[in-house]
Amino acid sequence: MKFKKNLLGICMLLVLILTGCGSNNSQADINKTIIRVGHNQSQKHPTHIGLLAFEKYIEENLGDKYDVQVFPSELLGSQTDMVQLTQTGAINICVASNAILETFDDVYEIFNLPYLFASAESYHHVMDDPEITNPIFTSTKDAGFQAVTWLDAGSRSFYTKNRPIKSAADLKGLKIRVQQSPTNVKMMSLLGGSASPMGFGEVYTALQAGIIDGAENNEMSLTDNGHGDICKYYSYDMHQMVPDIVIANYEWLNDLQEDERAIFEEGFKILNQTQRKEWVTAVENAKEKAAKEQGVKFIYPDQSEFVEKVAPLTQEVLQRNTKLQPYYDKIQEYNKEFPAQKEAKQ
Ligand code: GCU
Repeated sequence: MKFKKNLLGICMLLVLILTGCGSNNSQADINKTIIRVGHNQSQKHPTHIGLLAFEKYIEENLGDKYDVQVFPSELLGSQTDMVQLTQTGAINICVASNAILETFDDVYEIFNLPYLFASAESYHHVMDDPEITNPIFTSTKDAGFQAVTWLDAGSRSFYTKNRPIKSAADLKGLKIRVQQSPTNVKMMSLLGGSASPMGFGEVYTALQAGIIDGAENNEMSLTDNGHGDICKYYSYDMHQMVPDIVIANYEWLNDLQEDERAIFEEGFKILNQTQRKEWVTAVENAKEKAAKEQGVKFIYPDQSEFVEKVAPLTQEVLQRNTKLQPYYDKIQEYNKEFPAQKEAKQ
């Protein structure tokens, strides 16, 4: 199944490369360099809207030279496939959840830790602090890519088909889809559930077929990906705030001329700002639609029980991966400055 999907993504890409993405290109278009950008969200998602703003800005400023083409909905393969294609330079840019990046460089483990951020404000300040993100974003030169900005993916909570998660004990024995990251598999096992790692695009069918009992994600996955048609209970345990990371092929990015690089950097800023602005209303709308149209029930369990159960994971990761401690300490400073606000959860 996975092999077939990989093959499909690679075939799609080959077709796109060979055809230059359309047969009626003008001479001017043929002389342009195509910048391929892939992501796994729908065309209505804030990420796609952000990337269209990026495309517009680049083409307004460098349109005589570059043609930016944005491929949504896993058209170029799953996120893991797209990261690999970005490593080799087959595509220039892709959006990858921080969760899967830890298998490419373990410095990314930091943002996958459960309950790392005390509040959304703390999370945003950390991700906007170049002292924290710069060394992480530039750590993957040897892996062939570099992060250029981050995107908001809200907070992740459990949602299930039949059994509402009112307390951590309710997860016992349930098969829950997690992202393909060792941290997430360990987190699930500490919570008593059974982790089923798989790509995002496979979740709907797995839920429908009963291969899994639930999943964990932000509210957008209920509506935009239709998971709320199947899962009627969403429990705000908010175990993680995992950013999406926009990565670019290292060689391509660093070979850009200085003035062009500056324009691309501005484009990445526009992408970040547009996506985050869109995100706020998109999540509000998703929550309303899930409740009213899909009949999803939102549950607010006592988080402290979840926090306690997963605490050994943070200790284990910090002890094993010692380079993470300075990042962790800096994040705690932001957590003190922007502590949890109870009313924000209701
Ligand atoms: C979120 C996130 C994606 C990720 C997905 C997942 O939607 O924005 O980048 O792929 O979760 O759970 O796989």
